[in-house]
Amino acid sequence: MVLVDARNITFASMKNVDKLREIFLQYLEENRFEQAPKGLYEPINYILNIGGKRMRPVLLLLACQMFKDDIEAALPAALAVEIFHNFTLLHDDIMDDANLRRGKPTVHEKYDTNTAILSGDVMMIYAYHYISKLPTSLINKALNIMNRVAIGVCEGQQYDMNFETSETVTIPEYLKMIEYKTAVLLSGSMEMGALVGGANEQDARHTANFGRDIGIAFQLQDDILDTFGDPAKFGKKISGDIIQNKKTFLVLKTLELADFADAQNLRALMQTHPADPSDKIQKVKALFQQYNIRTIAEKEMDTYLSNALSHLDAINVNDKRKTDIRELARYLIKREV
Ligand code: IPE
Ligand code: IPE
Ligand code: MG
Ligand code: MG
Ligand code: MG
Repeated sequence: MVLVDARNITFASMKNVDKLREIFLQYLEENRFEQAPKGLYEPINYILNIGGKRMRPVLLLLACQMFKDDIEAALPAALAVEIFHNFTLLHDDIMDDANLRRGKPTVHEKYDTNTAILSGDVMMIYAYHYISKLPTSLINKALNIMNRVAIGVCEGQQYDMNFETSETVTIPEYLKMIEYKTAVLLSGSMEMGALVGGANEQDARHTANFGRDIGIAFQLQDDILDTFGDPAKFGKKISGDIIQNKKTFLVLKTLELADFADAQNLRALMQTHPADPSDKIQKVKALFQQYNIRTIAEKEMDTYLSNALSHLDAINVNDKRKTDIRELARYLIKREV
């Protein structure tokens, strides 16, 4: 039997999702960025190797596997979406002034901002480079998906930045913003997986819609964890969203439910940038707690999870082929990391 890692887990005994993650990690390792100049490529190896859940490549491979047993041809697309995702993190961490990612210093913190910009730029190009390694007949469609994703992420990120200084963001506007900045990539990843797996148009659409709805739930959970997560597990600075005045679901729903005075108070707090944010964080959190916002946000997440699962149900393959995706979807909204 083949040993795949130091923990002596045999490949045959591993769960399918773990197997796919291992296969992906092996492919990632084979495609390390060893070329010169080091200043450009070393930060890429850094960010790609300090961890991460590898959710997008795993979902892409699972989507492919739903339609076809052999996932080999999907590996370049899996690498493309992971590199693309990590590129967005390099730039996002500059934009959000974040110094911690996966429990380690962010790239602009460890190196510098120019490095995070340029290494990020070249990562985006490499994402396209790996798309070009897909079977020729699929490249055009995959490129269209990637372009839609990349434009969507930029638009979502711009809305996210605009909302920091806006007092009039609505919940539908927030949901649109997270669909763009986060869910389009999960959706596009799964759509490419379905494409390589040979899904018909209707099944590919349901797969993409599953990815979109699970992506919205995923970002809602990210926003919940940003405030309520365990710093030892989450790997990012807790309450960064409060510090940056992000108009998350937590803030917008509290504004909707709060009495006039509390709403005024929260609105005022979410326009400040105190040098020491601890008092602001404590006050904002107290308002969230007073209005039971975490539970309400979790209900919202459940709605998106069940929407996602009904798209999965509608896919025309044997239900056994959906088990892992269903399980992973449930994990994604229960996760603490
Ligand atoms: C972080 O994504 C950015 C969001 C869209 C919330 P992940 O939570 O997938 O980050 P890693 O790759 O596992 O670190
Ligand atoms: C993630 O939004 C969106 C992208 C990276 C495109 P966040 O800003 O919430 O992601 P984290 O929390 O920094 O990972
Ligand atoms: Mg951000
Ligand atoms: Mg961020
Ligand atoms: Mg976040």
